[in-house]
Amino acid sequence: MTTFRPDRSFAEGLDTADPLAGFRDHFERDDPSLIYLDGNSLGPLPRATKARIAEVVGQEWGAGLVRSWARWIDLPLHVGDLLGEHLAGAGPGQVAVCDSTTVNLYKLAWAALDARPGRSVIVTDDDNFPTDRYVLEGIAAQRGCELRMIRTDLDQGIAEEALRTAIDEHTALVSLSHVAYRSGALADMAKITGIVHEAGALVLWDLCHSIGAVPVQLDACGADLAVGCTYKYLNSGPGAPAFLYLRRDLQQRLRQPIWGWFGQRNQFEMGQGYDPAPGIGQCLTGTPQIIGTAAVQEGVRLLAEAGIGRLRAKGVALTGYLIGLADAWLAPYGITVASPRPDDRRGAHVALAHPDAWRIGQALIAEGVIGDYRTPDRLRLGPAPAFTRFTDVWDALDILRRILTNKTYLNVTVARSVVT
Ligand SMILES: Cc1ncc(COP(=O)(O)O)c(C=O)c1O
Repeated sequence: MTTFRPDRSFAEGLDTADPLAGFRDHFERDDPSLIYLDGNSLGPLPRATKARIAEVVGQEWGAGLVRSWARWIDLPLHVGDLLGEHLAGAGPGQVAVCDSTTVNLYKLAWAALDARPGRSVIVTDDDNFPTDRYVLEGIAAQRGCELRMIRTDLDQGIAEEALRTAIDEHTALVSLSHVAYRSGALADMAKITGIVHEAGALVLWDLCHSIGAVPVQLDACGADLAVGCTYKYLNSGPGAPAFLYLRRDLQQRLRQPIWGWFGQRNQFEMGQGYDPAPGIGQCLTGTPQIIGTAAVQEGVRLLAEAGIGRLRAKGVALTGYLIGLADAWLAPYGITVASPRPDDRRGAHVALAHPDAWRIGQALIAEGVIGDYRTPDRLRLGPAPAFTRFTDVWDALDILRRILTNKTYLNVTVARSVVT
C-alpha cells in the first residue's frame, strides 16, 4: 500500500473504490455487526451454496433417488477441472475433488516414493501444518524412509538456502505448504519446484492457505503434485471434500495406494482385480461426497466470478492495511507483526505476536471480532478478500486497540481449548 492514513475515512474510501465490494452480498450474514476475520479457517456460507444444497438434497436426492447418480458420477472430476482452470492454473484432467487433504496427501506422497525407487528421503519443514508432518512421519515409518525436517522461521517461512542444503541425490519427495498456516508466508512455487527438480525429486504442494486467495500456477511452475482443502477461501463448508492435483505426464507412472472401486477402470463391470482408470480418475477412492462436492462447485464458481487477480489484489491491500494499522496503533502495547512484510511474500492472512495472544483473541471474540489463535503466541487475522471490507479491518483493529488500552483481556478466564 503506497499511501496510508490511520483515520477511518481512509478505509471508507478504499471500500468505495473496491471493485469486489458487491461480493459481500453473495454470503449469508446472520449478524451484520459481526466482523469475521477467520475465512482462512472456515469460510462463510455463500447464498448460492445454500440454495444448491437444498436442491441437491430435496430434488436430486429426495426426488431423484438413485437415478441422480447419472448426474453425480462425473462431479468430482468436473469440479476438479473447474477449480483447476480458475484457481490452480491446471489444465483439464489433472485435478480431482475427493477425500480430505490428509488422505490426499497420503495418497500422493506414497505414490511419489514408489516413483523414485532407490531414494528414501522425504523432506519437509518443521513449521509445515501438523497433518502434513504427521502423514509424512507415518509414511516414513511404514516404509523405512528418513524424514528430514528443515528448520523454518515461524514468521518468515521457508528459507530457500535451507531447502537446498536439505535436498540431495537420496531425496525422493519434498512436501511443503505454499502459504504457511501460522504466519501466512508465501513460498516461491516456481523457484522451489525448480530447486527440487534439479535434485531429481518430486514436489508436493499443500495449497490449503493459498487456493482461492493467491493465484496458483501449477502447470506453469512445473509442479508435480498438490493437495488442498475447500472449506477455507473456497467457502465450501465444514468437512467439504478436498482436492488433489497429479500432473498429466505423471499419471501413468504414479499409482496411489488406496485401490477403491471409484478408481477402477470400467467401475461398474465389477471385475476381478484392480485395474486403475486412466488419468486423474485413478486418484478417486470410494463413493464421493456429493453434497459437499456441489458446495465446492458453487464456491469455485463464486470466486471465478470475482476473478483470482482481483481477489489477490484486494488480499494484498487488506493485509497491507492491517499491518499498517498494527504498526501505528498496536506496537506500543507489545504487539509485533509475525508475517512477512513484502506483499509478494505474504498470503491473505496476518499473524500478530503477543505473549497474551490467546486471551486477547478471546476478548476480541467477546467484542464481535472473530479471528483465531495459533501457538505459541499468535493472533491470526484473515481478512478474506471476497467479503471483508477495509472498514472491517479498521474497526477490528480499533477494538483491539481498545482491548489493549483497557487491558480487558486480563479478565479472560476461559482455558485454551480446541477449534479453528
Ligand atoms: C495447510 C493445511 N493442511 C491441511 C489442513 C487440514 O487437512 P484436513 O482437511 O485433512 O483436516 C489444514 C487445516 O487447516 C491446513 O491449514
